[in-house]
Parts: sequence; structure tokens; C-alpha cells
Amino acid sequence: MAERTLIIIKPDAVQRHLAGRIIARLERKGLKLVAAKLMQIPEEVARRHYAAHRDQPFFEPAVKFMTSAPSLLMVWEADGIVDMARKIIGSTFGYDAQPGTIRGDFGCSQRYNLIHGSDSPESAEKEIASFFSPDEIIDYDLVDSAWLYSPRISSKK
Ligand code: TYD
Ligand code: MG
Repeated sequence: MAERTLIIIKPDAVQRHLAGRIIARLERKGLKLVAAKLMQIPEEVARRHYAAHRDQPFFEPAVKFMTSAPSLLMVWEADGIVDMARKIIGSTFGYDAQPGTIRGDFGCSQRYNLIHGSDSPESAEKEIASFFSPDEIIDYDLVDSAWLYSPRISSKK
């Protein structure tokens, strides 16, 4: 199975009608969508999602924000997707995210930064399991995958 990542289009992006444009950024890269649902994240799930930050001053405001309105949750799949998605998303704060990235192009807030992407394949697995049951993730072939993904051959320099 190819690598997977959890993508959350956060409440600010849904409210600002940006969900379609954000999904388009991932689609145009050729990444594969394998699960999606609109959901207002329950408080205990948001607390678990950001548990690594539980001692940070932004923890409570982040939980409040993430539970304040619906989010669009998705699982995307491709070899190397965790890093690819993080590059497309951009650095954490809108005000210093690079133009051309989602956070760099659509906002300038610190907390309201539009989108979440898992930071490693291991955390992706855990995050996906806390939002999706296995039968909600669809196994299928993309008809253009042969053109999108050539086998990776590493060259030693
Ligand atoms: P983090 O995991 O560091 O960022 P990323 O989403 O890029 O992986 O932080 C989780 C979320 O917490 C982040 O998306 C926005 C919020 N946050 C703040 O509000 N203030 C902060 O100083 C940090 C580091 C994060
Ligand atoms: Mg993170």
C-alpha cells in the first residue's frame, strides 16, 4: 500500500469557501483521494489530535478553533505523500508561509491556517485511525497513475 496522509481542511477554510480550491491544489499534483467526510470534530478527538502540544499556550485556543465549525477530513495516498503534502501546504503560520503554498496564498493568520497535514507516515497512520474506520477508505486504481508515477530509481553520486 502506498503511503497515506490525513488532510484536514480546517473550519476557517470551510467557512471562507476555500475547500474546493484547496482540494484542487492536491488534485493537480496527481495525488489520490481515498476518503473524505465533512464533520464537526468532537472536543476529545481534537484534544487527542493536538496532544503533542498539550503544554503549549496555543493548545486550548487550537482545540476551540478546530471544534468551532465543520472541517472537511480526507485521506490522500501516494508514495512520499506526507512530505509532498507538507510542501504544498507550506509552513505553519500564514504570515510567513511561502507564496505558492496553500497557507502562503490564502491567509496570514497564525492559528487560522486553513489546513492540516500529518507530519510523518507514523503519525499519519495514528491520525487516520482516529478519524476514519478502515471501511471508509477506498481502495481503487487511478486510470492515469502510469503517467503520474514512474518507478523511483535513486542515483548514487
Ligand atoms: P504544529 O503541529 O506545530 O503546526 P503544523 O500544523 O504546521 O503541523 O501546530 C499545530 C497547530 O497549532 C498549527 O497548525 C496552528 C496552531 N499553532 C498556534 O496557534 N500557535 C503556535 O505557536 C503553533 C506552533 C501552532
Ligand atoms: Mg503538526
